[in-house]
Amino acid sequence: MPRFDEIWELELRRREEAGRLRRLRAVERPAESRIREGGRLLVDFSSNDYLGLSRHPALAERAALFAGRWGTGSGASRLVTGNLEPLEALERKVARAKGAEAALVLASGWQANASVLAALLDPRTLPGEPLVFADELCHASMRQGCKTARARVLSYRHLDLDHLESLLRAHAAHAGPRFVLSETVFSMDGDRADVPGLIELADRYGAFLYLDDAHAVGVLGEDGYGLAGGEALRAGLVVGTFGKALGAFGAFVACSRRLRDFLVNRCSGIVYSTALPPPVIGAADAAWDLVPALDAERKRLHENARHLRARLSAAGVDVGRSSTQIVPAILGSDERAIRVATALREAGFLGLPIRPPTVPEGTSRIRLSASAHHQLAEIDRLVDALVAAL
Ligand SMILES: Cc1ncc(COP(=O)(O)O)c(C=O)c1O
Repeated sequence: MPRFDEIWELELRRREEAGRLRRLRAVERPAESRIREGGRLLVDFSSNDYLGLSRHPALAERAALFAGRWGTGSGASRLVTGNLEPLEALERKVARAKGAEAALVLASGWQANASVLAALLDPRTLPGEPLVFADELCHASMRQGCKTARARVLSYRHLDLDHLESLLRAHAAHAGPRFVLSETVFSMDGDRADVPGLIELADRYGAFLYLDDAHAVGVLGEDGYGLAGGEALRAGLVVGTFGKALGAFGAFVACSRRLRDFLVNRCSGIVYSTALPPPVIGAADAAWDLVPALDAERKRLHENARHLRARLSAAGVDVGRSSTQIVPAILGSDERAIRVATALREAGFLGLPIRPPTVPEGTSRIRLSASAHHQLAEIDRLVDALVAAL
């Protein structure tokens, strides 16, 4: 047996016994919101490609154009082989749309959160020990950034700004800088943070506000560019991604010019990682240009999401506080979530069971994401199948 394989095997067996073994599945994606798995065509309710942009010809065309002009790879980090003009142009567009002085593109949302937060919270640069106040459901990548910096993190109850304020007040005497972390739209719950409320609290307590807008960019906010910009940027920064509604890959940080310069020097995800490849920059660039013109698609998406939420709620299924295209069917136990997901598959739908540690214990769920390409009749059939399985 190859070295240490018995150790890895033991953990795999443990996970299997707990019913929490994850597996990669081979699939094909023949069309928007369709997935073929094991020879079966399923209606996909699992993807973050909410508008179907990953199959939009404008993205494929610009990806091919940029590949032809600048090659398929970037060769090294932007600090080594240089900064391609299309990447700078994309950053200018993102900064303009977000009302920021500057933007910085990174390889992925995970990498952005994990490496930007590690840089911001580095006690060697700060005037004192940082103290982080994070919504308890913040994404794992944000937790990773805090962990890397070994920062002290106080979690406040999900979306509960009174609790956040009580923690800020209780630690008002803390000498080091304070950071407040939240998503704008929460990835597993589809509910929204009170962004103006967060800005107000960050201002009152002099805290840096770090907002992850990953699931809002492309689908919510003015012109579809997300829920945080302008005012939020006075108090801190906003992260967004190109890999979800924008149908491409990569991420951005919208921030001040000085903070961008700081990150170019101190963020390991920039310094030690190869820049996004030109075709990916091309796809992200084309998607960014398309966003303001996609009102009809966004309208359809939100109508579909509203219909899905209403049908599930009417059937007595707990959808939490979802008010977006992400609609959790919260079922409780792992077993229940797995049983329902299996039944959905039998009925021709892909809706994946999400279990701890991705969500809190006792809240296993089917995370359903609506698409602008779903038909109302498909949503009805999905809900019927889900309710029948329960
Ligand atoms: C809120 C949030 N932030 C960041 C990420 C990571 O983004 P990416 O998939 O681009 O690495 C995700 C995706 O899972 C997410 O849901």
